[in-house]
Amino acid sequence: MENILVISGHTDLEDSVANKAILEELEKNLQNKEIRYLDKLYKDYKIDRAKEQEELVKADVIILVFPLFWFSMPSLMHKYFEEVFTHGFSHGSTGDKLKGKKLIASVTTGADEEILKKNNNESKLDDFLIPLKTTCAFTGMQYMGYVFTGGVSYQTRINEENVKAIKEKAKLHAKRLIDMI
Ligand SMILES: Cc1cc2nc3c(=O)[nH]c(=O)nc-3n(C[C@H](O)[C@H](O)[C@H](O)COP(=O)(O)O)c2cc1C
Repeated sequence: MENILVISGHTDLEDSVANKAILEELEKNLQNKEIRYLDKLYKDYKIDRAKEQEELVKADVIILVFPLFWFSMPSLMHKYFEEVFTHGFSHGSTGDKLKGKKLIASVTTGADEEILKKNNNESKLDDFLIPLKTTCAFTGMQYMGYVFTGGVSYQTRINEENVKAIKEKAKLHAKRLIDMI
């Protein structure tokens, strides 16, 4: 059985509906996993490089779970990459520790899926995730693609019914993620 490492990059899961619900589903339904909640572990943004590298080495599949912030990953997850993906570990002449591992992105957006569609029907999300895809190519990881749910912005949380609908979307999202592994 493959070892799965889930990295949650939300900067404040206490204030999350979609990502929180996705992660709860993964906690319940995913076997053989380790979930790293970066906001809980590193409120001060001081990331434990050795521990995170150790977790990466053990993993066969890495799932990055995050909301889109400014067309990119949140700052804390970006910091994680800056601190953990070091020369000699992930890249460089002797940096082969991530080679062959699979990477999947789980992304939520405030914008609807329709709004993010380009004229050729492809999603703009593919463009936003180019840095991640390039990171995979650079470190020898296999980019497996992404699972994406749109229309879950803060503004839509105006009543119980809407929050319930976001949680339902998140449940389906988690199922799609699990099916992808
Ligand atoms: C700082 C910030 C930046 C955001 N930038 C974007 C963005 O570029 N595009 C977008 O569609 N949504 C954007 N959003 C909306 C979030 O993606 C959305 O609120 C999130 O996916 C909801 O997930 P959650 O319930 O887990 O917080 C942004 C939200 C915040 C707080």
